[in-house]
Amino acid sequence: MNQSVEHLNIQKKSAKAGDSIPHESAHLHVTGQATYIDDLPELENTLHLAVGFSQCAKGKIVQFDLDAVRQAEGVYAVYTAADIAVKNNWGPIVNDDPIFADGEVEFYGQALFVVAAKTYQQARRAVRLAKIEYEAETPILSIQDAIEQQSWVLPPVDFSHGEVEQAFQTASHQLSGSIELGGQEHFYLEGQISYAVPQEDQTLKVYCSTQHPTEMQLLICHALGYHMHQVSVEARRMGGGFGGKESQSAQWACIASLAAQLSGHPCKLRLDRDDDMSSTGKRHGFAYEWSVAFDELGVLQGLKVQLASNCGFSADLSGPVNERAICHIGNAYYLNAVQLRNLRCKTNTVSNTAYRGFGGPQGMFVIENILDDIARYLKCDPVLVRQRNFFAEKPGNGRDHMHYGAEVRDNVAPKIVDELLATSHYHARRASIAQFNQHNAIIKRGIALTPLMFGISFNAVHYNQAGALVYVYMDGTVAITHGGTEMGQGLYTKVRQVAAHELGLPIDRVRLIATDTSRVPNTSATAASSGADLNGKAVQNACIKIRERLAKLAAEISQSDADQIHFENSTVTTNNGQSWSFNDLVNRAYMARVQLWDSGFYKTPEIHYDQVNHLGRPFFYYAYGAAVSEVAIDTLTGEMKVLRTDILHDVGRSINPAIDIGQIEGGFIQGMGWLTTEELYWQPQGPHAGRLFTHAPSTYKIPTSADIPHVFNVKLFDNQNAADTIYRSKAVGEPPFMLGLSVFSAIRQAVQAAIPEDAPLELNAPATAEEILRAIAIGRGQALADQPQPRLR
Ligand code: MTE
Ligand code: MOS
Repeated sequence: MNQSVEHLNIQKKSAKAGDSIPHESAHLHVTGQATYIDDLPELENTLHLAVGFSQCAKGKIVQFDLDAVRQAEGVYAVYTAADIAVKNNWGPIVNDDPIFADGEVEFYGQALFVVAAKTYQQARRAVRLAKIEYEAETPILSIQDAIEQQSWVLPPVDFSHGEVEQAFQTASHQLSGSIELGGQEHFYLEGQISYAVPQEDQTLKVYCSTQHPTEMQLLICHALGYHMHQVSVEARRMGGGFGGKESQSAQWACIASLAAQLSGHPCKLRLDRDDDMSSTGKRHGFAYEWSVAFDELGVLQGLKVQLASNCGFSADLSGPVNERAICHIGNAYYLNAVQLRNLRCKTNTVSNTAYRGFGGPQGMFVIENILDDIARYLKCDPVLVRQRNFFAEKPGNGRDHMHYGAEVRDNVAPKIVDELLATSHYHARRASIAQFNQHNAIIKRGIALTPLMFGISFNAVHYNQAGALVYVYMDGTVAITHGGTEMGQGLYTKVRQVAAHELGLPIDRVRLIATDTSRVPNTSATAASSGADLNGKAVQNACIKIRERLAKLAAEISQSDADQIHFENSTVTTNNGQSWSFNDLVNRAYMARVQLWDSGFYKTPEIHYDQVNHLGRPFFYYAYGAAVSEVAIDTLTGEMKVLRTDILHDVGRSINPAIDIGQIEGGFIQGMGWLTTEELYWQPQGPHAGRLFTHAPSTYKIPTSADIPHVFNVKLFDNQNAADTIYRSKAVGEPPFMLGLSVFSAIRQAVQAAIPEDAPLELNAPATAEEILRAIAIGRGQALADQPQPRLR
């Protein structure tokens, strides 16, 4: 593999934001010393939990005999819905997520009971002794069935902006189509896990692998009848979250806490990988029906889309996920007239949830396909059609508003695309690929560019707040804690840089303490890519307060100006020539009884959003990027390889270029996996209808190192955030995921080269080998070897 990133000057001890400092736990990650929850030393009398899951997708439970389970070796107790004192629900928004199914089941893999035993193996063995019979009903397993039966978790949403009907009447061209898009398993390396420890006086400490400690605390309280001051939740780090631990860590945290409450023992619940894959929610699959009106240049005049998502059996975060799909339906393109219908389908599958991009990728997917179809119809370069549809670069002269009303003030998509077209040699390569395809009957190549424009902030305005505590100890070292959680994305590293930068200290003088609801309360989920934006500002706010107090003291001692005191290189200097080491000044401050620690708070300014009418300015700013991917497909086997990808991505003024490039590479690869090899497959019928077949790495294929583009060039776009964010940086966690769309688009180009010019091009995602072969067969008018399996997404 030939991988190039900008020259990264890794600084181990820097004191500056903007330097590439290694991840704060890198040395622990690579030596196996980073403690994940399963690595915590177990307390004496710890009980191990295993959950019994439904083996029926929909039906009534007619026999529920757990006697043999209770009598099995090592079993201490078995708990069911009947043991939940207060509220059998872990749903974060709508109360439709039972902790344990009660009387009826709604999906294959739903939790029914938990066994607490001396060892993990004993608990797992005991689970299998349950005698459970169901009176099965026909499950709804596909979006199509759900639509036919009008089965929704939330009512349909209709949105319209501009004169849509008029646009369709007057536009010179129209196209319509439908396309499907699969879901995605999170595949975090550390599965769902919680360790609940009862403590004195009716209190509980829960170690949980979660992106949202406060919500865990709240939902445990709802289930157990505790007040929030009785429960604290700690999350030092996750072995990946990707959205899968935003809400869905709650069920397991509630079960572990319930067992701890009832047994009085510390209780640990760690889901086995297969159970984790079958019984926790995934990215929503979508099915789209669209029609588009456009002019002879391919400029969009009107757009109608029906977006139907597979929400699974309950609402979970499906409301906000679909809301974000609606907001991002235009990606980086101006829509002057658009009509959307959003169906949030209830099926008898696991409840789908947050996943990197949070519906944004599902919004963008369809418009990118539509623009490709327009380009094919007009027989022109798809990049040209994309460029013609961009927002204006400056607001004020039209083409500058989102369909939800917000003004676009920071559009750098056209600049990014121009620069990337040049550095990736797109035009020359596209011409040589056309040549290649003329001379090769079997291998076909394709190249595509897709841009990206992703709104940063939570649509739910109240979520855009953060708190932090910064302690300067009397020896001059610093400890920080805030509401954000670390899942590998480098949040703790960036926040550490903020404190070091503000106080003028080398990075090793600053340490992050585990995120804990008893340290910083009422926190938001670490999600929507906003972790560093929110917590970085909160920590900065606390540091400034401490620095100002130290400066005041220094000014008093030296008879100089407090606003002219500098904190740099562990030294504090005045404008009249005096200086102290940071340690000395801190010590003097302590002796002078000056407060050396403080709290910080931040709330994102200027944002507002009306969730009923889908109007407002929900995003403080946008993150931009673009990718050019080149692929080759084998038209006999369907095999696909990504030959080269060039990315230019906008992170504003990066706080840490090494971390940001890691996020861009990882996000892109994860997006590529979603659209190519990662296929979820549920058994469509029979007694085990609704069982997830792809419940292990043996059947579910995520990208590996061998799947990385053979040439992979990643570059940061030289830009600063127009909005006043922490050091003018931009969020990076989710946006690059959507650059994976360039691979799908390139595969379409390759398929197009394999079929006659005006033949139908039907490629659904993921574009697995089978799907590529199916698309080629359809395009060539060949009979399909097998009846295509109904795809259940
Ligand atoms: N990177 C790693 N290594 N592991 C993760 O779980 N989650 C992603 C992204 N990058 C994730 C990751 C998701 S879904 C989000 S919302 C952001 O990180 C959250 O962190 P941030 O807000 O600090 O960017
Ligand atoms: Mo990320 S899907 O917002 O956790």
